[in-house]
Amino acid sequence: MYCKDYVVKELAAHLPELTLEEVESGIEIPKEKSMGDYAFPCFRLAKTMHKAPQLIAAELAQKLQNSDIVEKVEAVGPYVNLFLDKTWRASFILGQVQEAEKEGRAFGSSTVGEGKTVVLDYSSINVAKPFHIGHLRTTVIGNSLSRILQFLGYRTVSMNYLGDWGTQFGKIVVAFQKWGNREEVEKRGVRALNELYVRFHKEAEENPELNEEAREVFTSMEHGNEEALALWRFFVDVSLKEVSRVYELLDVKFDTYLGEAYFWNKTDKLIQILTEKGLLQESEGAKIVDLSEDNMPPCLILKKDGSTLYVTRDIASAMYRKETYDFYKCVYITGMEQSLHFAQWFKVCEKMGFEWSKDLVHIPYGLVSLEGEKLSTREGHVIYLQDLLNEAIDKTKEIMEEKNPDLDNMDEVAEQVGVGAVVFHDLFNNRIKNVTFSWDQVLNFDGETGPYVQYTFARASSVLRKAGFDPAVDQEIDFSALTDEYSQEILKLVEVFPKRVEEAAQKWEPYMVTRYTVMLASAFNKFYHENSILTAEETVKKARLRLTYVVAQLIKQGLYLIGVKAPEKM
Ligand code: ARG
Repeated sequence: MYCKDYVVKELAAHLPELTLEEVESGIEIPKEKSMGDYAFPCFRLAKTMHKAPQLIAAELAQKLQNSDIVEKVEAVGPYVNLFLDKTWRASFILGQVQEAEKEGRAFGSSTVGEGKTVVLDYSSINVAKPFHIGHLRTTVIGNSLSRILQFLGYRTVSMNYLGDWGTQFGKIVVAFQKWGNREEVEKRGVRALNELYVRFHKEAEENPELNEEAREVFTSMEHGNEEALALWRFFVDVSLKEVSRVYELLDVKFDTYLGEAYFWNKTDKLIQILTEKGLLQESEGAKIVDLSEDNMPPCLILKKDGSTLYVTRDIASAMYRKETYDFYKCVYITGMEQSLHFAQWFKVCEKMGFEWSKDLVHIPYGLVSLEGEKLSTREGHVIYLQDLLNEAIDKTKEIMEEKNPDLDNMDEVAEQVGVGAVVFHDLFNNRIKNVTFSWDQVLNFDGETGPYVQYTFARASSVLRKAGFDPAVDQEIDFSALTDEYSQEILKLVEVFPKRVEEAAQKWEPYMVTRYTVMLASAFNKFYHENSILTAEETVKKARLRLTYVVAQLIKQGLYLIGVKAPEKM
């Protein structure tokens, strides 16, 4: 329930000619505060009531004069402007928070998703390839969406759909057999593998038969070449071990790592369906599905040699997901350069007659650049995520050592703040917007940043600590102590938290939660600077502490939903 619902009820009680829905859709939020919290235009009523809208507005305002929930009501021309009673607002909103608390559920959480499973395919790293800064976005967007969905009662399945199959593995195996050694790879991990890969491409320029060799090795892997497969398994292990540290730092967990390799030989059924439906066409020896009717290039399903492609494995994997999880939605979070890929095979699924193809969702995002330069995996341009996060932690520690040298658990906090800053920055904008990464911006403690929000949380926590605040006691609050402008601004934000989270889920946009935490933090900082809390008169102090507590809880919750930790001290 929102304050607005009450306003609707009050208005409707005096407007028998309108339904609740009609009243609700008529209500406006005035742009200027001086016009009240809500405005109700009376033009539409003029016809049915056979009266001038000004007159209707004046009469309606008169009738609302005695309402408990309005402090002031004015008729301005054809409008009725309503000012909500501030004490009522405080008691209503904080009452809802307290009620949730009593019931042992987080304010804003819900059960709308109960019984529904959402499969989230994100991070989905490529084995033996650098886990670089470009993968940060899929990882943090996916993690945040999975937390948001869980908060709304959905069951989620987080899938790291490993890029662990394809001709490139023939190349790495050949390169390793020629120039690699095990100790080196064990010690330097993916960096060593990537170097082998880069070397392969260089040498293949001089020596093109290497490509043929790699192709043959890969084909032999599909036919069970144990020696090559053992190496492949070794590369998978090395890659997974290496990324696990990054996942730990980001606090990201997956339910499964079932990747492409699992699906390459599970495509019989899909080929059969495509064939039966007459969708498969021959083109230069390969098998394709024509999509010209849908204004897309043809979708290549099988290569000349009969081997599968990325897209084939994606279709097989989607079928598996439907069968295994019976998903309500299956979402794929990747850079927008893959948009056509997903559009194509979603279409193919539709043509195959899969009713659930409508539940496949591609969630694209824009590019990350560093000072305007595109980050590619080309030699010399790779920025490993691990290095980036470590640098964030180091830089944060430097800043913290200056700001608060006596902090006990400096390393832990520097990690939470440094990593949090990077994640926060990545989730600050609309997904599709390109992100430019600059340290000054990411680690600015005063801007719209992670550290700023975390700092606000620590500040609120410190106030509560000093006061010895216990949320279980002091439940009786004099809400009239929260009628000042700053408290009211906070209350309005508290009220919309559940809506923001729901919207973020609906639009698959974590930034809505990120921005919310900034707004709440800055409203709290204003309140904190303008109002004394600890030295206020007892009833006022009690009320302000309660509000502080609610803010702290919500900031922490909001940060959790975007995958950022909230240290109590910093
Ligand atoms: N491994 C792929 C890449 O790094 C992303 C996989 C996305 N998921 C999928 N089901 N295609 O580009």
